[in-house]
Amino acid sequence: MTTITFVRGDITEQHVDAIVNAANSSLLGGGGVDGAIHRAGGPDILNACRDLRASHYGKGLATGRAVATTAGRLPAQWVIHTVGPVFSAEEDRSGLLASCYRESLRVADELGAKTVAFPAVSTGIFRWPMDDAARIAVETVRTTDTSVDEVRFVLFDETAYAAFAAQGN
Ligand code: AR6
Repeated sequence: MTTITFVRGDITEQHVDAIVNAANSSLLGGGGVDGAIHRAGGPDILNACRDLRASHYGKGLATGRAVATTAGRLPAQWVIHTVGPVFSAEEDRSGLLASCYRESLRVADELGAKTVAFPAVSTGIFRWPMDDAARIAVETVRTTDTSVDEVRFVLFDETAYAAFAAQGN
């Protein structure tokens, strides 16, 4: 039984086994939560990402996939990097957004992580509407078979928190 919780805050400060990064396919950093994680976690994370690119993901990590690295100096033990889809009004990419959550939980299970914190993947630079992203995120976690005990959604502002918390009712 997985408990789903919602908190307003900064994902880099969460004391959980793994935090999820809303990365891009290069795995080499960016803005938003990705930039915050690399800044707070230090260079070990980027070095691990570079190693992954060299060893397994020469063309980058595909949208909807997830992969883990060390969390460097963050309180968490691992960072699970996932690549959300860029929102499109013309094309339904919600399956790819759901895949980010499912694949991240699969990676968490492989690691043995019992507590996992997620940001609102794709809702920043990738422009996914918050309410729709919240619905997909929570529904996907609810319907995914996982050994993770707690999935904590960490929302950066009040609008995001309200959208996600509404899904918990
Ligand atoms: N803790 C929790 N949530 C945060 C934090 C934080 N420290 N910082 C921002 N958010 P975004 P995306 C929220 O743009 O849309 C990067 O350049 C933010 O308010 O980080 O998936 C990557 O490299 C928003 O609600 O990710 C990619 O190129 C949510 O996190 C691209 O951005 C996601 O916003 C990915 O875009």
